[in-house]
Amino acid sequence: MENLLFINACVRGERSRTRKLARRFLEAYQAKHPDNTITERNLCDERLQPQYPEILDERDALWNAGRLDQPMFEPARQFAAADRIVVAAPFWDLSFPAILKIYLERISVADITFGYDERGAMKGLCRASKLLLITTRGGRYAGTPLEMATPTMKALCVMYGIPEFQCLDAEGLDDVRQDRAALLAAAERRADALAEVF
Ligand SMILES: Cc1cc2nc3c(=O)[nH]c(=O)nc-3n(C[C@H](O)[C@H](O)[C@H](O)COP(=O)(O)O)c2cc1C
Repeated sequence: MENLLFINACVRGERSRTRKLARRFLEAYQAKHPDNTITERNLCDERLQPQYPEILDERDALWNAGRLDQPMFEPARQFAAADRIVVAAPFWDLSFPAILKIYLERISVADITFGYDERGAMKGLCRASKLLLITTRGGRYAGTPLEMATPTMKALCVMYGIPEFQCLDAEGLDDVRQDRAALLAAAERRADALAEVF
């Protein structure tokens, strides 16, 4: 039995197309793997504090005291222990919403999600073999230098030691010239196919 961690950064909640696409993927994944557990972390419900000076001071004090078992580090421990990770986040301002960045800063903790080997080289400590980013975009940006969400997540996978990064996207969803329902439906079919092999 494996555990999949679902990080939900879909700010628009029920109205979110990204969330709809993620639900479709997760339902197909659960049907394919009925014994696996899916744990959701909803970043809008959780409202983690950004690393303001006092939060960072608390984090440094706990880390320097070796108290990695403290609640401050629970998100990082959970992330490090997951077998599979799915992050759902809409495309905002060429990247993803700030709530996801806050979460990523919170889980990027030395000796939990990443560390250093004896020569000082960074090495990932996460258990997951795959991370999937599910996103939807208003325009068309995939494969261009302006699309900065997937390069960021891909690079973080290297830091965390997660060997495989994948992205499931739907684009052009705010383009009135497009058949937007058809674009989303096509992405849902890709979600079904991906769930078979993820
Ligand atoms: C704050 C904000 C910023 C956005 N920035 C971009 C952008 O830079 N490029 C783009 O193509 N679409 C942008 N969009 C449009 C969204 O990517 C698009 O509507 C997406 O499908 C929203 O996902 P959701 O339905 O899951 O909320 C933005 C939307 C919002 C609300």
